[in-house]
Amino acid sequence: MQRLIEIVGEGNFTDKLEELVPYSYDASMNFHRPTAAVWPESTEQVSEIVKFANANKIPVVPRGAGTSLSGGVIAIRGGIIIDLSRMNRILEVSIQNRYAKVQAGVVCDDLNRALAKHGFTFPPDPASSSVATIGGNVNTNAGGIKGAKYGTTRDYVMGLQVVLPSGEVMHTGAYTMKCVSGYDLAKLFVGSEGTLGVITEVTLKINPIPRHAMTAVATFAKLEDAGKAISQTMTSGVLPSVMEILDRVTLKAIKENTDIDLPQAEVMILAETDGFTWEEVEAQMEVVLDVFKQNNPTLIKTAKDEKERLSLWNARKSAYATLARTSTSFVLDDVTVPISRIPDLLVGIQEIGRKHGLLVATYGHAGDGNLHPQILYDEYNPDQVEKMEKVEEEIFHLAISLNGTLTGEHGIGLSKAGYMALEHDPIELALMRQIKRTLDPNNIMNPGKRALDS
Ligand code: LAC
Ligand code: ZN
Repeated sequence: MQRLIEIVGEGNFTDKLEELVPYSYDASMNFHRPTAAVWPESTEQVSEIVKFANANKIPVVPRGAGTSLSGGVIAIRGGIIIDLSRMNRILEVSIQNRYAKVQAGVVCDDLNRALAKHGFTFPPDPASSSVATIGGNVNTNAGGIKGAKYGTTRDYVMGLQVVLPSGEVMHTGAYTMKCVSGYDLAKLFVGSEGTLGVITEVTLKINPIPRHAMTAVATFAKLEDAGKAISQTMTSGVLPSVMEILDRVTLKAIKENTDIDLPQAEVMILAETDGFTWEEVEAQMEVVLDVFKQNNPTLIKTAKDEKERLSLWNARKSAYATLARTSTSFVLDDVTVPISRIPDLLVGIQEIGRKHGLLVATYGHAGDGNLHPQILYDEYNPDQVEKMEKVEEEIFHLAISLNGTLTGEHGIGLSKAGYMALEHDPIELALMRQIKRTLDPNNIMNPGKRALDS
């Protein structure tokens, strides 16, 4: 490990137990202590660290803010955590060419604050955006609440600088809006969860900020009605910029644990329309509200001012952390289905929880078919642990049976590795493993994840 100190300097290295404890966790229930952690300040340092690790076959785990919800940044086989948070410079903002080039450790909200000065934005908006880094966004293909209209991180990645497992520095992608020159290697690294290399720089497409936005709330007595309202809205000709859902358990937890006064109902939808003019925003909202009215709502309300609008979004973004505080333990998933199957997924999740006698809160990005069932249980009660495992397994089977996927935005990581074969056939899995072996023959990059080396 002396070599690591030579590369990054004494102040950017630790193997002290007390400093490694926070690096043993992420935002999931997984944990394992790494052997050491380093804070490189340049791509050259990252390259030297990876060369050293590769020569000595030591696992390497790249890490941003550690907000992974799937155990993606847990050093499950020990090794070196490469914390990229000190590589946090915005390298270039080119408004004329609609891109921003940043180091991997730049925090999402910091990038958006810098872009807002020019009237621009990087739309993907994970709930953790105040701390999450762009490198983490790219590694998980982060989505967030604007996915229904604006897509996910993948849609914005134009180019990357990556330190490959050999230590070589690769540049891939282009500074152009379009590029079909060679295989799209940048996209191979999007959502790769640190298993193929260390992403050190990212060039992102940026959008003008919509000038106006309007937020509305609707509550329903039946999950089926809310589910239908969502899928009908998404085919109404209007694409809301946000279409979120929060169920009764989530609404109650937020009301009881924050000072935000949300309506209490079986289920609530939060919708937003945006655009260049106020008339455009209102006209779209009218269509959305009409759809809601046709599906037996118990309340419909639009946010009266910007303060109320932002407070509703803060409430939504607080769902995960608020629920996390209400129970001893929890498992949070991000199953995603084709939009028209949202009613089946919503009802199915609730039935599975009821059948096993566990409380499951559900909220999420219903507009793009992505729900977050948060299974609340007590990890010190073996009976509850067993039930939790059954509930999760049945939710995964349900999502796949609805033509869905195990994960829309949090990644496979450790948490869902055991289910890879449920979604991917042996031919696809074999090709994924072959790609991993080709790039990383010594299996040093974030080993033990995604069933790639099992
Ligand atoms: C959210 C996180 C859990 O949407 O993905 O709140
Ligand atoms: Zn989410």
